[in-house]
Amino acid sequence: MSDNSYRRVYARRLTRLPLLAAVFFLGCGRIDPGQLPEPPAFAEAPATWAALQGDVASGKRAAKQYCLGCHVVDGEGHQLSTAPSFEAAMNQPHVAPLYLRRWLWNPPAVKPETIMPNLSLDPAVIEDLTAFLATYREVSPAEEPASEVETSGPQPEKTETVDSSQ
Ligand code: HEC
Repeated sequence: MSDNSYRRVYARRLTRLPLLAAVFFLGCGRIDPGQLPEPPAFAEAPATWAALQGDVASGKRAAKQYCLGCHVVDGEGHQLSTAPSFEAAMNQPHVAPLYLRRWLWNPPAVKPETIMPNLSLDPAVIEDLTAFLATYREVSPAEEPASEVETSGPQPEKTETVDSSQ
């Protein structure tokens, strides 16, 4: 890494500050997913649960590698009191495929006060995790109308996890 590339990364971070500040001053934990920084791969990725192409078994392995400290995966690991179970997380109306990819890519960019860290996951791993997490949804992809799958606009606050008033 040359000095230059360090400066580029730093400059990119700085350009996000106004967005984060706006979110903070609105007093709203979530921002429109359409405005989130995202890696280019996600724009091409399937936007419906039914069309996901990630590998469920690899996603489960990745979840056991990266998520066990805070979420129970398949009966293993520890559930933080502030973290939702995957069942609870995946059955919230705001959790759509694109939202989920952006969340896994960089949770604090979605919700600045969250304690779920940026795990620096590879986009391919995120695809597999998305396919694995989709198995926790109570409505099967086949029954789900496409129009309800992707959400945009301001997202509802969750009720069952972190107290965002602090
Ligand atoms: C250091 C702890 C930690 C780790 C590691 C972690 N999470 Fe989380 N996760 C949380 C917390 C805390 C929340 C609650 C987020 C909030 O509302 O602030 C959360 C929320 C979520 C949500 C719900 C997001 C929403 O919008 O409601 C999903 C989905 C999720 N995590 C998936 C994962 C996956 C998949 C992994 C592994 C790749 C993972 N998490 C790793 C702590 C963690």
